[in-house]
Amino acid sequence: MKSRLLPIFLTLFFCLNFHLFAQQSLPRLAKKGTTTQLIVDDKPFIILGGELGNSTATTAENMKTVWSKLKTMNLSTVLVPVYWELIEPKEGKFDFKLYQDLILEARQNEMKLVFLWFGSWKNSMSSHAPAWVKLNQGKYPRVKDNTGRSQEILSSFSENVLQADKNAFENLMRFIKDFDSKDRTVILMQVENEIGMLPSARDYQTLANDAFYQPVPAELLQYMQNHKDQLVPEFYEIWKKNGYKTTGNWEEIFGKGLHTDEIFMAYFYADFTDKITEAGKKIYDLPMFVNAALNKAGREPGNYPSAGPLPHLMDVWKSAGKAIDFLSPDFYNPDFKHWCDLYTRQGDVLFVPEHVFDNSVAAKALYTIGHYEGLGFSPFSIESTQKPEEEPLGKMYGLIKELTPLITSHQGLGKIKGAMLSKSDQETIVRLGKYEFIVKHDYTLSWTPGARTETWPLASAIIIQTAENEFYIAGSGVVITTKSTENKDLNIGILKVDEGNFIDKQWTVKRHLNGDQTHQGRHINIGTNQFAIQRVEFYGYR
Ligand code: DGJ
Repeated sequence: MKSRLLPIFLTLFFCLNFHLFAQQSLPRLAKKGTTTQLIVDDKPFIILGGELGNSTATTAENMKTVWSKLKTMNLSTVLVPVYWELIEPKEGKFDFKLYQDLILEARQNEMKLVFLWFGSWKNSMSSHAPAWVKLNQGKYPRVKDNTGRSQEILSSFSENVLQADKNAFENLMRFIKDFDSKDRTVILMQVENEIGMLPSARDYQTLANDAFYQPVPAELLQYMQNHKDQLVPEFYEIWKKNGYKTTGNWEEIFGKGLHTDEIFMAYFYADFTDKITEAGKKIYDLPMFVNAALNKAGREPGNYPSAGPLPHLMDVWKSAGKAIDFLSPDFYNPDFKHWCDLYTRQGDVLFVPEHVFDNSVAAKALYTIGHYEGLGFSPFSIESTQKPEEEPLGKMYGLIKELTPLITSHQGLGKIKGAMLSKSDQETIVRLGKYEFIVKHDYTLSWTPGARTETWPLASAIIIQTAENEFYIAGSGVVITTKSTENKDLNIGILKVDEGNFIDKQWTVKRHLNGDQTHQGRHINIGTNQFAIQRVEFYGYR
């Protein structure tokens, strides 16, 4: 009798106390249709980010004036370095007080954190290694360049370096798990920072030289054979040129030259970083990524940081970096679309963890979300603004924040398009359902005051299809006309267009647009200094 009642009692107890058991899951990546979303607190999340300047978060005192700026700019997430030298000043003695304070402050300001592990490498160099590592060069060897000169760069071929870095990272993940797994303020980890070999394409110290004349690891060769049809063309061509060999050392498989030195180095950087990532995830399973300093056109590896997670080395990084969730570009270079296209060409998700904080970031943030359906965007040195309330980025983040439920529920389904326009790239065409949208820069309207100016601000828009004839269009500096993709004899008219906001997730109309605002029904327009959302219904007429 007793034993028959027990399951009933337990079920009742569990149901009544469900809230005590219902723990939200950890931040994770999840595939949705054609894209990948970051799920935080069980909901899709967009990183409206900003990365702090390198020394800003080194004391809690120095952070005091920063939070209000970030809030004013509508950030959802702050990217903050964790410096190895500060968390493990003495070997084996860890101090996480700085990061406890930071997590508490982030929670108070309703923001999430991405931690950037400044471990063995930060912008190629090992400047954030603790003194006890730097001073013990016998145990923690440095790389040597092609002249045999030591650099202030720890060698990825050293087991001691790997173990010391791994131990520190494991302790960091244990701290985050213990301190934060209930609130989940830390949502993503970047492992190391802008890895890359300088000033030569590869390491020439003894351990590295030994590895260079060993056979190429089976892991990489197998990956190349399994993905032969999907390899990035730059890498595929090198393999092809050398006869698609499947056994041999690095020079036998890829030929002699700096490109081979770089491939070799990339494999071992990826392998090292993968081991750190895997060990960290075993303790606390957050999504983890790596970032790259983009190479400048025409330069040889070693003149730029060689062997980082760059587009031409994606396959090498992916073969050795199985625990690493994605590779990300840092932008201090022009050609935003070009590089983002390269990073997404194998179907990978885009996240822009760094972009120089210039006047293009607002437009690019929206384009990252609208065109690439990316995880998010983050200008570097975000706290450097003196007028956060005037930052276009803050206004754009405000729009994306309002639109987040609409964006995330339509991602991956072919319902979202983005456009980005400049003086040299004034017009683009996107298609959604039975409509073709001709999206032009606002200054193409001859009567706008900016039309005759020398420089045009970067403009961008997102278009979200919510029903057959209904769209939400948001952004800044665009003018849009529409055609039917099905019938060239059918004219498309604007049935209704309202400007408004999502207030508590409810669409709330601010103005009904007509007259000059739609050029008497001819177009949709969001002016250059406006940041707006419009809800539009179209219809066909003959
Ligand atoms: C890229 C690095 O990742 C950042 O930490 C910073 O050094 C910027 N470059 C430049 O200031």
